[in-house]
Amino acid sequence: MSAIAIVGMQWGDEGKAKVLDALAEETDIVVRYQGGANAGHTVVVGKEKYAFHLVPSGILRENKVCVIANGCVVDPEQLVNEVEGLRARGVRIDGTNLLLSDRAHLVMPYHKLIDQLSEQKKESSGQRKIGTTGRGIGPAYVDKVARSGLRVGDLFRPDYFTRRVEERLTELNVILKSLYGQDALSAQEMAAQVLRLSGALRPFVADTAAYINAALKQGKRLLFEGAQGSLLDVDHGTYPFVTSSNATAGGAATGSGVSPKLIKTTMGIAKAYTTRVGSGPFPTELTDKTGEKLRERGAEFGTTTGRPRRCGWLDMVALRYAIEVSGADAIALTKLDVLTGHRELKICTGYQIDGQTVVRFPSDLSMVEKAVPVYETMRGWREEIEEVRSFEALPKAARQYVERIEELLTVPIAYVGVGKARDALIRRGK
Ligand code: GDP
Ligand code: IMO
Ligand code: MG
Repeated sequence: MSAIAIVGMQWGDEGKAKVLDALAEETDIVVRYQGGANAGHTVVVGKEKYAFHLVPSGILRENKVCVIANGCVVDPEQLVNEVEGLRARGVRIDGTNLLLSDRAHLVMPYHKLIDQLSEQKKESSGQRKIGTTGRGIGPAYVDKVARSGLRVGDLFRPDYFTRRVEERLTELNVILKSLYGQDALSAQEMAAQVLRLSGALRPFVADTAAYINAALKQGKRLLFEGAQGSLLDVDHGTYPFVTSSNATAGGAATGSGVSPKLIKTTMGIAKAYTTRVGSGPFPTELTDKTGEKLRERGAEFGTTTGRPRRCGWLDMVALRYAIEVSGADAIALTKLDVLTGHRELKICTGYQIDGQTVVRFPSDLSMVEKAVPVYETMRGWREEIEEVRSFEALPKAARQYVERIEELLTVPIAYVGVGKARDALIRRGK
């Protein structure tokens, strides 16, 4: 038995899917445990590029079972489209290799509408918007916690489902009218619209916690695929500029119904620099030509929304904090190749805040906003490294950069990403 959580250590898009796909060769089951279609997980196989939003990134590997577990919020329309899109590209997906928890909450059309209206309202009233992906994630988790949500299993009790939609819309229609000047939504129509998709989802629906626990007892190997990143975690991230779920490793236990004792290893995924999409503090952000160069070389545009990602130097204060709250045992450092061509590289080792040097990531957002990074400067390299497949064969300056990061961390760097391709991942050590 082995159970490894793959968890983002920054603000998402660290290259989790690429590392997961590589590790998935040696696994039996891949479990998505939180978030929803706000995620955009890219796997490149030869000339083909796949972007996953709800379907776990293990689906491309033969004979693996992929699970969308209870902690996820599932937009039925998005899931049906994603499955159909993948099938059209020749990926086999059926009830034997994709399972969907009957306990997962549904993202309803009104969640997406409220997500978008709320962001627009913030913007037009001069407030700072979160910069969400507009996929209804926040409103769906709000309903879950407020006990007003609908779950996948409810799709198969149409009368109950319709009644619950009516109850929810009785309240929401008042809010939609008074806050956003929107006409009332018809509960009957909306319930019917969603229920029409239930047939397409039925083959996948299962008690996934029971499935996963039985598989662990049988000695199966599991990967837990995190979405977003530890700094977007609703408890530990840069609140309120976060997503609405636990993107830290703890989410893997509650989000799948597995004891935390069984998830023995957490592999933290971090880029060799830092990116962020949406609003919120980002101390090492570069708004100059260097930032642009990182965005261009790294193709840093959102997988889900296409928005340009904000780019900056590696931030060890934030990274050490993420490693702590997610209990990462090792790091996969991705996109080292993107750093080729810089005369020098910078690593942030501390923050200057109000004249004090701070090395612990502050919980007070205004402190993070004020933080001036303290940098260590490293020599860069000019050689392209995308074809390099051993650590020793990397340019000396690239090795020194990785080794210095490892020195500043408390955990080893087990993998180094040097390109988009499936095999562009160097394994270090044993
Ligand atoms: P995820 O959300 O963490 O799975 O990451 P995304 O898929 O949103 O973004 C990561 C992007 O970087 C994708 O386009 C990947 O194909 C790409 N990528 C992953 N690892 C590497 C790497 O080591 N080098 C380069 N150049 N690209 C990478
Ligand atoms: P993956 O899994 C990067 C960001 C949004 C926004 C905030 C809240 O691909 O790493 P939400 O729609 O979740 O309410 O938006 O979180 N965000 C992500 N940023 N990668 C993601 O997923 C993200 N999912 C959400 O940009 O700032
Ligand atoms: Mg992504």
